[in-house]
Amino acid sequence: MIADPQREAYLAYHRAKRPDVQKEPAPFLLGRQNQGRAGKITRSFATRQHRCALSIMNSVTCAKFVRACLRPEFAVRHIIRRCSMGSIDFRLALQALERPEYAFGVKQAVYLAAKLKHSRVSVIEFGVATGAGLLALERYAAELGAHAGIEVEVYGFDLGQGLPPPSDYRDLAYVWKRGAYQMDVEALKKRLRSAKLLLGDVRETIAEFLPSEHAPVGFISFELDYYSSTIGAFRLFTAGDRVVLPRVICYFDDIVSDGHQLHCNRVGELLAIEEFNQQQNSGHALVPIGPLATDLVFPAMWMQQLWVYHRFQHVDYNTYIGV
Ligand SMILES: C[S@@+](CC[C@H](N)C(=O)[O-])C[C@H]1O[C@@H](n2cnc3c(N)ncnc32)[C@H](O)[C@@H]1O
Repeated sequence: MIADPQREAYLAYHRAKRPDVQKEPAPFLLGRQNQGRAGKITRSFATRQHRCALSIMNSVTCAKFVRACLRPEFAVRHIIRRCSMGSIDFRLALQALERPEYAFGVKQAVYLAAKLKHSRVSVIEFGVATGAGLLALERYAAELGAHAGIEVEVYGFDLGQGLPPPSDYRDLAYVWKRGAYQMDVEALKKRLRSAKLLLGDVRETIAEFLPSEHAPVGFISFELDYYSSTIGAFRLFTAGDRVVLPRVICYFDDIVSDGHQLHCNRVGELLAIEEFNQQQNSGHALVPIGPLATDLVFPAMWMQQLWVYHRFQHVDYNTYIGV
């Protein structure tokens, strides 16, 4: 195969951003197929074989480069993130973290656990893949937990063999590929410090987790992609009060669209949420977190991906935790 510098640059960019995703470039991002203004910029440089930086960037990278020139705050935040400058609260406020949504969730879980006089709290990632998210979760749990004097238990659920076969159209087979997101189990286990990896189909491992000894759950990241797997993970919410805090911050990775994924409440994670809410009595519900009036200085898309599991009848639901 003839080397294509643009294709290689595109792949290098995506590997750096999400090393777990072996993304192929969309044809329209490459060479002569480019469309639109940004595409014309890339094509004009590429076809003339100019050896400048822009010629090896894709359109989105070009746009981000221009943005960084126009608004230096992005470059400053990038440096703060890469150098881990300042406290985790500082970096979270600036959105200068690899996974700010995880740090936000852990922070809220730790806060609520402390207010309810728990000494421990659990945080979960459903869908681990290569472990980039779980490793970040582990780091945030250690830092935020130590700061608040709360022990944070970290759990990761995954099949360990990539995505299972989709059940039906609700699992969005037009987006997710069976076998994608392979995990190198042994390599990941060596890198994890405290997180526990629960390997197997989540519909079975969750049943083993529920009666096991663990701290109440305060934050969950749902990254299972499929409707059927997400519904399986929701079984956690049907267990007793011992298993969860009265309110659990939930992050859903696949409820925002990119123009071709087109998530909606008839398929995928959004359908799982809708069905969960329809099936439950008024005792509990999953609702969007809504507008966030927090110390976060920069708005971000993940704020719209946060939901809250409310367990209205939880013994601690009405315990005063301050404003
Ligand atoms: C998008 S990847 C997770 C990405 C990861 N959270 C990250 O940040 O890098 C989705 C993962 O969900 C897992 N998965 C999907 N359905 C599952 C099921 N029924 N049981 C266990 N794991 C499942 C797949 O194995 C895959 O690794």
